Amino acid sequence: MDKYAVFGNPIQHSKSPAIHTQFAKSLGEEIGYKAILAPIDDFEKTVSEFFNSGAKGANVTMPFKERAFAMADELTPLAKIVGAVNTLKQLDDGKLLGDNTDGVGFVNDLLANNVPIADKKILIIGAGGAARGVVLPLLAHQPREIVIVNRTKSKAQALAELFTQYGKISAFGFDDLPVNDYSIIVNSTSSSMNGELPALAAAHLMQCDVAYDMFYSLTHTVFLKWVATHNDNTTLLDGSGMLVGQAAQAYYVWRDKMPEILPVVEMLKQGTLR
Ligand code: ATR
Repeated sequence: MDKYAVFGNPIQHSKSPAIHTQFAKSLGEEIGYKAILAPIDDFEKTVSEFFNSGAKGANVTMPFKERAFAMADELTPLAKIVGAVNTLKQLDDGKLLGDNTDGVGFVNDLLANNVPIADKKILIIGAGGAARGVVLPLLAHQPREIVIVNRTKSKAQALAELFTQYGKISAFGFDDLPVNDYSIIVNSTSSSMNGELPALAAAHLMQCDVAYDMFYSLTHTVFLKWVATHNDNTTLLDGSGMLVGQAAQAYYVWRDKMPEILPVVEMLKQGTLR
């Protein structure tokens, strides 16, 4: 049986083993997938031992994504730009390929929810690692424009600068962000983790069809609740779809088969994923 695992610290609450086991079941395959706690000072050794034992692939989560990037022998173009790896695959020659499936997982979740991207204006709040991962996968679907707004404007500008050669992208702070017809508004900041709201004016929400909070939550985050109070026509999506979407893309990278996302998101929300 092909072996996989997720490495992190902490790791005991990871949903990845249950998600991947369900993917395999839905595709009529059998895989072994476990969660492995990697010691902070021994991540590389723990992962190497796993692959030396014949494992096919691994997911990597906090706080090791940059170290997995450094460990990979080869990198996909996306992983190279993002500078972080969440998926490792052992190639036939024994080399480790590093990929980053977070952004593709996010876009796949939008598509699974029938959210059109082509020709739309997209506002991304935040300019950290999570934002960096989604820009290229979004640009691949030809949005009209991506606008990045961040508390620290210089970080938004630096991020936009990275991608100007790939599509129309601009950067602002919260106080100079132009009011525009943003169809999709994505909260990529870590604010929801602390129950905080980014300082976005409600005027930006008026044309919003979809609000997406990348933070994984079983109930609506403060951000999604806030959007709903200002525009009740907005579809609200949270990071549970992205969590399942990045896992589905990793499964595809490893096994060349694409699992369905939405049934597993549903199971996750219902608490029936074991
Ligand atoms: P990640 O890799 O999860 O994106 P990160 O790189 O630490 O994490 O980035 C966190 C992002 O959340 C940043 O854009 C940060 O804004 P600053 O660059 O100004 O620090 C943003 N952020 C965190 N808490 C926030 C809050 N309460 N309001 C607005 N933005 C917040």
